[in-house]
Amino acid sequence: MPPKHFGLCLALLIAAGAPPAGADAPAPGWDAVSAIFAKHCVRCHAGRDAARGLRLDSHAAALAGGERGVVLVPGDAAGSELIRRLRGESVPRMPFLSRPLPDEQIELIERWIEAGLPAS
Ligand code: HEC
Repeated sequence: MPPKHFGLCLALLIAAGAPPAGADAPAPGWDAVSAIFAKHCVRCHAGRDAARGLRLDSHAAALAGGERGVVLVPGDAAGSELIRRLRGESVPRMPFLSRPLPDEQIELIERWIEAGLPAS
């Protein structure tokens, strides 16, 4: 393939891919985040026996945090204990005794935190 077509192919490949999560992408809301929590977290983080008193089964409960305090700092994903647990910077890594979440799910939760933890 002549080199001048290479750039075109590359551009088409990029255009065909998923849109990058740039500043214009709408911030994920609680719906998207809670779908991840429901699948990977609430079997241990819900109800009276929630691990460390941390419930992730409602927006209000997630923001309230657990017996050690808040785990979500609005606007500060890197400083949020929940993200540190998902990335293994704080141990034990979450989800406890399971495979780590895929990067794109962690990034979705990070964008939600950076957007200020919107309810919808
Ligand atoms: C199999 C049960 C289980 C699952 C599933 C689980 N956790 Fe946990 N989680 C625990 C236990 C047990 C602890 C307490 C561990 C410790 O810090 O000693 C904990 C602690 C935490 C903490 C720290 C709380 C604090 O106040 O320090 C966070 C944050 C957390 N989990 C988030 C999550 C998230 C997010 C998910 C889903 C991606 C998840 N967990 C899935 C059992 C679980």
